[in-house]
Amino acid sequence: MDEKHIKILNDLGFDIRQQDLTNDYWKKRAADALALTTQDRDVYGCIDHTTGEGVRIFDVEGTEYLDVTGGVAVRAFGLRYRPFLDFEDSIIDVINELPGQDFDAIPQTLLGERIASITPGNHKKRVVFTTSGGRAVEGCMKSAMDLSGRRRFVAFRPAFHGRTGYALALTSSNSKHKSGFPQGVDVIRVFYPYCYRCPYGTTEEDCSLECVEALRYALEVEGNDIAATVMEPLCGEGGLIVPPSKAVNGIYDLTKEIGAYFMSDEVQAGMGRTGKWCAIENHDVIPDYISMGKAIGAGYPMGASIGPAPMFTGGSRHSETFSAEPKMSLFSLWLLKHMEDGDFLKKNKENGEYLRKRLGELVDKYEVVGDVRGLGLMVGMEIVKDKKTKEKARKLRDNVVKNAVQKQHLWVLGAGQNVIRLTPSYIITKENIDDAVERLDKAVATEL
Ligand SMILES: Cc1ncc(COP(=O)(O)O)c(C=O)c1O
Repeated sequence: MDEKHIKILNDLGFDIRQQDLTNDYWKKRAADALALTTQDRDVYGCIDHTTGEGVRIFDVEGTEYLDVTGGVAVRAFGLRYRPFLDFEDSIIDVINELPGQDFDAIPQTLLGERIASITPGNHKKRVVFTTSGGRAVEGCMKSAMDLSGRRRFVAFRPAFHGRTGYALALTSSNSKHKSGFPQGVDVIRVFYPYCYRCPYGTTEEDCSLECVEALRYALEVEGNDIAATVMEPLCGEGGLIVPPSKAVNGIYDLTKEIGAYFMSDEVQAGMGRTGKWCAIENHDVIPDYISMGKAIGAGYPMGASIGPAPMFTGGSRHSETFSAEPKMSLFSLWLLKHMEDGDFLKKNKENGEYLRKRLGELVDKYEVVGDVRGLGLMVGMEIVKDKKTKEKARKLRDNVVKNAVQKQHLWVLGAGQNVIRLTPSYIITKENIDDAVERLDKAVATEL
């Protein structure tokens, strides 16, 4: 951090000096000030908020990292992307202090139209903007209940849809998220289609879509008055699991058979990450509802619930004070246009294939790298005790992540119980990918 930024903090009333810029000092101060949420201070240093570019991140001690988290799929174009900064400067005078849902302004309407046009299906849609992914999920859930008059949902295990209220009720990826909190809505839960560890013990060759039949049975014995089936088109937080399209289609067909809505939670996998605007398009399914978040805000907190018109049976059935303020809507519109102009859907597909191919070399090289899978730039690498038993190597995964971050300076995250998650920004290059795989390779080799 340079003197200019230290002075900004000084002028804001904080007595901070160059010698205070150490990870330990700021981690301790953060731990004293902030309730612990998802920070893992045993692994990650304190990020310097004033430097870094693209896929390069720095901590406050000046250590440089190669970032393959994309800020957990938030940063479409990485850090301080010059074209975006220029656009941001050009709209510095736009009013932002407009509560988006009490009064109309042009940018939000244009963004609503644009989002409807890039999401699958030609049916008439409506959009509600939100401030987070979880709220985007909840907006869809409320609409599905409002329009159907039904109250119950189908969700999966594992699944992640957020940590508040109704969204938490759908979530099931880690007991820490849920235990002790009440279940906000009724959920019928079945296993997520997970071919590497098929919960029904079948292989891809002898699969008869037992996962779909399990849902059919659950609906028969538990009741089929379901408002919506809520599914991640690629399970993210639960372990980067790619469901086979035939299973997604089977679940969709069953949902339609019982007159329920189908909802695709695109908060992590959407916004072009998988090479399609919405990841559900990889399965050729047109969902009734779509929840979006993370990258859609171009670095600012925004989400969107997209559903069939009229979405709500009347006014004031749903709203929140902040949503898609003019500046934020313009940022998002810029992002969508820039993605199209730069052909990023195609790039994400190609770079994702390259990343999986390179990581596949680690599957060949190490007994403990059990599987590499993903769609586009949403990729997981599963760490196991050995390939035969596929026993989950949780501790080894944690050690590999820690080594990757602290020794190889690869800014990377875990997911699920034993998976390493790679969700880099869309500007990642093949050279960056080679570099990332090399660092991960070293981390695995060191921790064996
Ligand atoms: C698929 C999915 N849905 C919902 C959410 C919740 O989003 P937020 O943390 O913005 O509420 C997440 C966050 O990781 C997610 O991955």
